[in-house]
Amino acid sequence: MHQNVECFWMTPPTLLEIAITGAFSYTGKYLAPLLLARGHKVLTLTNHPDSSNPLIHQIRVAPYRFDEPEKLAASLAGCDVLVNTYWVRFPHGAMTFERAVENTRTLINAAKSAGVRRIVHVSIANASLDSPLAYYSGKARLEEAVRNSGLSFAILRPTVIFGREDILINNIAWFVRRFPFFAVPGDGRYGIQPIFVGDMAALLADAAERTDDYAIDAVGPEAYSFNDLVALIAKTIGRPARIVHAPAPVAYVATRAMGWFLRDTVLTWEEYRGLMDDLLVSRDIPAATALVAQSLGASAKSLAMWLDENRATLGVHYASEVARHF
Ligand SMILES: NC(=O)c1ccc[n+]([C@@H]2O[C@H](COP(=O)([O-])OP(=O)(O)OC[C@H]3O[C@@H](n4cnc5c(N)ncnc54)[C@H](OP(=O)(O)O)[C@@H]3O)[C@@H](O)[C@H]2O)c1
Repeated sequence: MHQNVECFWMTPPTLLEIAITGAFSYTGKYLAPLLLARGHKVLTLTNHPDSSNPLIHQIRVAPYRFDEPEKLAASLAGCDVLVNTYWVRFPHGAMTFERAVENTRTLINAAKSAGVRRIVHVSIANASLDSPLAYYSGKARLEEAVRNSGLSFAILRPTVIFGREDILINNIAWFVRRFPFFAVPGDGRYGIQPIFVGDMAALLADAAERTDDYAIDAVGPEAYSFNDLVALIAKTIGRPARIVHAPAPVAYVATRAMGWFLRDTVLTWEEYRGLMDDLLVSRDIPAATALVAQSLGASAKSLAMWLDENRATLGVHYASEVARHF
């Protein structure tokens, strides 16, 4: 459902108090300065406040407190909008997708009881209640919770968000730098349509300032096949792209083994499935695509350009999800 995606710019934007999740994590780190630059006040919910980040002196910081919903609501009091990026990439220990769904429901309810008027929610492209993949079905259930919340809403659905703190593209480069060949699961012809984290932040900031309800895929201007993506990364960092096509279970076992050495989960089986089922490309309607283009205009960052700008550092260090979040 994509409502009224062509209109409703709130001009000029009213100055708002905006709660965002994860201002010291990934997407939120780009969103917070943008909102401040536009004159808004920012509160962040996080379990990892970073005292070395200058942002800490410019925004209010509160813990997530999913187990104390009244305190969570009290933290959100006075906020006009909640921008929610909270989610987990994969289950680990006591943290499951089911827990992440419940925590997000608690957050939505806390926002509502605190008097927040609008929620901007980050989902994923091709989220579906029928999906056999718990990441995608969990995200679809939360889209439903947002729509039924009674709050004004925008739902943004990225595929892969690239930027300096990104994990997937950085780690492809890390493998390409260290190994004589790169194992691509299946034929590698499935697609990937990433968006630059700065552009994602701009779409979120615009969504926070708007008043209309809509749901759109948040994707960048280029789509690559996975083969082409690996080849582009290899070319950019000056390594040979020796792609070997392997059956998905074989590639998965290899990444499981690497994960054991790296003390990380390199890629989950669900992520293999999502990638190979072509879920990392947008199938959105033209009006929604037009809204993304209208918001970003010619300034949308191309992956090729960003890779080139970051060729010296890309994949030099492995990026670990487990170290970052668990
Ligand atoms: N990154 C991508 O390529 C990508 C692709 C498609 C969709 N998305 C969606 O975009 C949103 C933002 O992604 P992001 O990569 O920018 O996320 P992120 O900043 O790494 O994390 C977002 C928030 O979730 C919390 N969080 C993440 N993992 C957690 C865990 N295991 N346990 C507890 N809390 C956890 C973080 O907590 P702290 O503040 O305490 O760190 C942060 O507040 C997410 O909803 C994600 O599903 C991302």
